[in-house]
Amino acid sequence: MSTARQFLDDKAEDILIDHAKDVDLAQAISKLFRGEKVNTSEDRAALHWALRSEAHTLSPEAKSVRDSIEPALAFAEDPDTLRQFKTVIHIGIGGSDFGPRLLYDAFSGDVENQIDLRFCANVDPHDFERAIQGADPDQTLVIGVSKSFGTEETLYNLGRAKAWLGGTQKSQIALVTANAKRARAWAGSAPVDIFEMPESVGGRFSLWSAASLGVMIALGPGRFRQILHGAYAMDQHVQTAEIGDNLPMLLALLDFWNAAVRKETMRVTLAYSNRLRLLPTYLQQLEMESNGKTVSASGDRLAHPTVPVIWGGEGSIGQHSYHQWLHQGAQSAPAEFILALDKGVHPEGQRALIAHALAQAEVLANGRSLEQVKNEEPNLSEALAAQKVHRGGQPSTFLSCTDFNAETFGSLIALYEHRTYLAGVLWGVNPFDQWGVERGKTMAQRLKSVLTGDTQAEDPVTAGLVEQLRDR
Ligand code: F6P
Repeated sequence: MSTARQFLDDKAEDILIDHAKDVDLAQAISKLFRGEKVNTSEDRAALHWALRSEAHTLSPEAKSVRDSIEPALAFAEDPDTLRQFKTVIHIGIGGSDFGPRLLYDAFSGDVENQIDLRFCANVDPHDFERAIQGADPDQTLVIGVSKSFGTEETLYNLGRAKAWLGGTQKSQIALVTANAKRARAWAGSAPVDIFEMPESVGGRFSLWSAASLGVMIALGPGRFRQILHGAYAMDQHVQTAEIGDNLPMLLALLDFWNAAVRKETMRVTLAYSNRLRLLPTYLQQLEMESNGKTVSASGDRLAHPTVPVIWGGEGSIGQHSYHQWLHQGAQSAPAEFILALDKGVHPEGQRALIAHALAQAEVLANGRSLEQVKNEEPNLSEALAAQKVHRGGQPSTFLSCTDFNAETFGSLIALYEHRTYLAGVLWGVNPFDQWGVERGKTMAQRLKSVLTGDTQAEDPVTAGLVEQLRDR
């Protein structure tokens, strides 16, 4: 269910729906599901939907994508896997980390197998140290997830993991990648299992793939298939619902309206669900790495802003932190509430969660005027009364689910995937590439040789910082 308090009257909504027809969002969805090359700069289709498809007829490429998860599911189900390993360490970063981490965190309270699944992403050595703390290398499976098999952080952590495991004869390393050749070269003589991550599945759209092998092991393939089924249901919805009833399309139009027309510079995601506490971080990559661009897919500079800053956190936790800013700060921040309720949990706590979510949305919208403050607290000084005013006028969307489970989780994530793609179409960008992350990586490699003193920094400020930080 969704309800919105947005600055969008009927006339504006009609104009937006007409715009959706002009841009032909329905055709954009058809192109996606026909496997057309919607990722124009890399000349690829975007087949993340195929991973969860239950269609009887698929193109050979889409069928190959769907079949790619079966070896991982079989490995997860193999009694040998569960017998040999007590700890699984997932090593990956970005789209090779956020999705599986979110998925596991959402359901780790109800795992099928007593597997201790840990995640390691950063090149900061502490991340790896933390991941192996207390683990027995003889009973640990290391899963390296990297679509390119060229990401520095992941290769660094995998190298340390390989050394930590020691030269075992049994395979204790699984590698999930689109680049099996590089993976084999890395493995050398070490026994490893390699699982395919299809080239046509974008990293930030890949949690449905073998990238989630660790989660498949911990949650069990049955639970994982329920998540796929939920996503498939959303795929059916986005392909069949009329624009006015099509949730991904409506949310994409709202994103376009708030960013391109109303020039909102941020959107705060308030996940009123402990199980979805990592969702705001996941959405940061999904939406900002997809649509954080100023040049169109055809190379033209865009005339309007695209995706705003996506930030947020867990509710009600945030009420004891940045909600002060939301209610009395100077900047506008449209909010997105996601209230995911579980059946059969302690009713008093869940009732409080609902009340807080509803209250925050209402106060963000209606505020608290000076007159209300003075009527409710007549003895306040003028100064204090003024400081108690809540500005109000903050738009919000309220998504709620009264029976949060594996299927509704899958539907929710697929909803955001389609929303992100369709918003990219409306803004005129390619949501499936990420050229903006390349320069930083290249520069970091150059600066490593500066830090060892082999070369000089070109930038004077960097040079000064290097002097302070150089290996002593
Ligand atoms: O952030 C850049 C990026 O390429 C992401 O798009 C990707 O999810 C992440 O790095 C990890 O890439 P890989 O899976 O190839 O290691």
